[in-house]
Amino acid sequence: MDESLGALLAELEQFGQASDAAISDRPRRMLNITRDTGEFLDVLVRATNARRVLEIGTSNGYSTLWLTHGARAVGGTVTTVDLSRFKFEMAAGNFARSGLAAFIVQVQGDAGKLLARQKNDAFDLIFLDSERPEYPGWWPEIRRVLRPGGLLVVDNATSHVAEMAPFVAMVKADQQFSSCLVPVGNGEFMATRNTQ
Ligand SMILES: C[S@@+](CC[C@H](N)C(=O)[O-])C[C@H]1O[C@@H](n2cnc3c(N)ncnc32)[C@H](O)[C@@H]1O
Repeated sequence: MDESLGALLAELEQFGQASDAAISDRPRRMLNITRDTGEFLDVLVRATNARRVLEIGTSNGYSTLWLTHGARAVGGTVTTVDLSRFKFEMAAGNFARSGLAAFIVQVQGDAGKLLARQKNDAFDLIFLDSERPEYPGWWPEIRRVLRPGGLLVVDNATSHVAEMAPFVAMVKADQQFSSCLVPVGNGEFMATRNTQ
């Protein structure tokens, strides 16, 4: 990783921790993934050669930068969506500073609406890190837009077990998916769409 991107990521880690400690209003908190989760996502994107990546829940772009660091290396791009105009603008500023903006398609809006607009099998990897009660309602579209052999990664599987339970149960009951829990960071629930 080049020095300036490494420095930006370190700055965002400090900013996220300080800002979340000082702010209780959830929509204004950064709620970033942990650094080890970022490293894990970077490796996953590279190892699976994921060129079409979708992130649901941009916040200020910390996780997007890790995903994009991987995607750029394999000739890909990351589409990232967030409902909040405030977060969208913060992320845009960070992307401009990162040197990775050319590999990021940023959308401000509701993830459910964005999913509904996508073609079948549109993404190789989907990273889901948004409002957990929404996940069961988004599942039919997520499973449709993830290509066979594609990978879904969902954050907070060990930090918010009860909130994740309905979604995890839904995915586990789906015969077309194989899943597992990876205890990195706040816990990554992962599922792949079976090819046979
Ligand atoms: C946990 S934060 C994302 C953190 C980010 N992935 C990171 O690690 O840097 C969740 C984000 O989901 C966004 N969000 C909430 N509901 C949404 C929706 N219906 N569609 C798109 N984004 C949504 C919030 O604005 C918030 O920024």
